[in-house]
Amino acid sequence: MKNAEERTQIQLADVTPELPQQTEFYKIPARFGNIPVDEAPLGFEVVTRPAETKVTKFEHAYPKIILPFQEVNRIKFGHSDKFEPTNLFPDGANRLFFGDNLHIMRQLPSNSIDLIYIDPPFFSGRNYNVIFGDKNEMRSFSDIWEDGMPGYLIWLNARLYEMKRLLKNTGSIYVHLDWHASHYVKVEMDKIFGYKNFQNEIVWYYKSGGATKERFSRKHDILLLYTKSFNWIFNPQKEKSYMMHKYGFKKSDFQIDKETGLQYSMVYAKDVWEIPSVGSATSERIGYPTQKPEPLLEKLILASTNEGDIVADFFGGGGTTASVAQRLNRRWLTSDQSRIAVSVIMDRLTKVSEGQMFEVPDFTVEHCGIYEVPKLEQYSEQHFREFVIKCYGGQKYDDSSDLHGTRQGVPLYVGSPSRNSVITKDDVAKFAKAIFEIKHTHTGTMLGWNFDQTAKKAAEILKARENVRVDFVRLELVRLEDDAFKAHITEKHEDYKDLLSFIQPPEIKVNIVKIGKLTYRFDVSESVSLNPDGKIANVQWDFNYNGKRFRSTDKYNYLRDKKGNPILIVEYEFPKPGEKLIACSVQDNQGGEKTEILKLDVK
Ligand SMILES: C[S@@+](CC[C@H](N)C(=O)[O-])C[C@H]1O[C@@H](n2cnc3c(N)ncnc32)[C@H](O)[C@@H]1O
Repeated sequence: MKNAEERTQIQLADVTPELPQQTEFYKIPARFGNIPVDEAPLGFEVVTRPAETKVTKFEHAYPKIILPFQEVNRIKFGHSDKFEPTNLFPDGANRLFFGDNLHIMRQLPSNSIDLIYIDPPFFSGRNYNVIFGDKNEMRSFSDIWEDGMPGYLIWLNARLYEMKRLLKNTGSIYVHLDWHASHYVKVEMDKIFGYKNFQNEIVWYYKSGGATKERFSRKHDILLLYTKSFNWIFNPQKEKSYMMHKYGFKKSDFQIDKETGLQYSMVYAKDVWEIPSVGSATSERIGYPTQKPEPLLEKLILASTNEGDIVADFFGGGGTTASVAQRLNRRWLTSDQSRIAVSVIMDRLTKVSEGQMFEVPDFTVEHCGIYEVPKLEQYSEQHFREFVIKCYGGQKYDDSSDLHGTRQGVPLYVGSPSRNSVITKDDVAKFAKAIFEIKHTHTGTMLGWNFDQTAKKAAEILKARENVRVDFVRLELVRLEDDAFKAHITEKHEDYKDLLSFIQPPEIKVNIVKIGKLTYRFDVSESVSLNPDGKIANVQWDFNYNGKRFRSTDKYNYLRDKKGNPILIVEYEFPKPGEKLIACSVQDNQGGEKTEILKLDVK
C-alpha cells in the first residue's frame, strides 16, 4: 500500500495541455485592419511590458505549490482487494479531498478521468455563494470576486485548464452555470477546449417556486458540454416525447403513458431537460444550499460514461455527483474546500455505498493544505519527515543519515512526529557534523515542534566557533506563524497566506438529558474549537451507530436555525429501549473535525 507521500510522487511530470490551434476561428477579415484578438483564455498570459506577453499558464495568478495529501479517514466496505491501485487511485480507493481544488488537481495524473462535472460558484455575488462560512470558503471567495467578471473568469479558467489536462482523450466535461456568467465562460471554454469540441448547451429547466413581475421568471440553468477531442464516449439516451399527442404527429411506435394515459414515443434525448430541483419534500434533500437533483447527474453520467469509468466533481458541495456515480457503479473522486461539505459528502457516500448490490471500493478522506496535528503525530518518523519537508517546499533524501532533505541547497533536519518532542544540543551537534562532513557547507535548517535551551546554546557556539549557521524553524500548533516555514508558500503569492495550516480537532462535550419516554436532549453547546478564530460550524448525529461507519440519522446531518447558524442542541426519540451506541461528528470553521462515540441505555 503506497503511503500518502508516495501518492503525491505521481504528479507533475505530466504534460501540460496546449491550447487548441484555432487561428481560422479567430481570424479578422483583412479589410478590418489590424484588430488585436486574444485567442488565449483570460489569465493564460501576462503582459510583462508594452507589446510583450509572457505565457504563464495561469501561474502568475496562481503559482504552483506542492502540498502533500494527508489521509485522515478511510471508509472501508471490505472489498478493497478487488480494486487495483492506479496512478489516480494509489491504493484502489475512491478519493474525497478537503482543500482548494486547484492545488489538488495540479497533483493528479493527466489523461486519467472520463467525465468531469462541476457546479462552481455562479458569480452571483459573494453572499449568495457563501454556503458554510468556514475559513476556507471565505478565503476562496475573497480572491475570486474583487467584484469583476475578469477575476472570476481567471479563477475558473485556471481550474478548467487543469481539468482539461486531467481528462482522458475520450473524456467530457459539463460546466453548470446560470445567466450570471455562462456566456462569458462559454467564450473562455472555446479558447481552452476548442470551439469545435463544444457539443451542447443544455438547458436545465427546474420549475421551482417564486416568480417575478419585472421580467420573465428565470427558471433554468445552463450546462456547457465540451469534449477533450473529436473522439468521445456518448451513450445516446432516449426520453418520452409527447409531440405526437401535443401536435397530432402520426407515429407508428407510440405508447400509452400509464400515469397520464397520454400517447408518447421514445426519442433521442434533447438538450432541454425538465427536472424538478431538490425541493423541501424531496427524499434526497440533505438541506445543503445549491444541492442539485440526482436525476440531473444521472442523465449526464449515463450519457458520457460506462460502468467502471471515472467521474470527478471538484466542487463537491453536498456530494450529488459522487453519490450518483457510486450508485451507477462508476469510480469517483471529489473535493470541496469546506470541511463541513466534506463531512456531509462522507456521510452521504457511506450510506449510498452500503446500499449497493455490487462490490464497492473503500474511499479515503484526504486533506490538502490544512493538516490535522493528532493524525500527523501517528505518522512514522520517515513519513512525518517526508511530509514536513514537502510542506516546507523541500526535497527529501532517501538515506537515513542525520540529513533528511534539502531546500534550495540548504540541508534540512526534521525532528520527531510527537508534538512534545524536543530538539536538543545533541541533535544540533549531530546535524552540524553531518552538514559539515557530508555536504561541506556551513548552514542548515532544523524543523521541529520544540527546541530546548541547550539546542539554542549549541547553535550559538557553533556560529561563534565554527562559523556553522543552524537555523531553527518551529512547527506551530495551529497556523504556522513561523514565517520561515510559511515563506515558501507566501513568497509565491501573498494570497496564499492561509493555504497552509495545522489544525486541531474540536473538543466535544455532550450533555444528555432524558426528556420523555425513549426521548432525550443532546446538547453540544459546550464543545469548543481548539483553533484560533475557531467556532463550531456543524454537528451531525448517528443515533444508531454500528461501531464501524458513521451514517447520520435522517435529517441530523446539516441542522441550521432560521439564521443559518448550526443547531447545537437536538432532541431524539429512539424507536425502542436498550443499550445504544451514538456517534456525534463535529466540524469547526477552521477545518477541524472529530467524531465522539457515546453509550446510552435508552429507557
Ligand atoms: C454550488 S456548490 C456545489 C453543489 C453540488 N453540485 C451539490 O449538488 O451539492 C459549490 C461548492 O464548491 C465549493 N468550492 C468553491 N470554491 C472551491 C475551491 N476553490 N475548491 C474546492 N471547493 C470549492 C464550495 O464550498 C461549495 O460547496
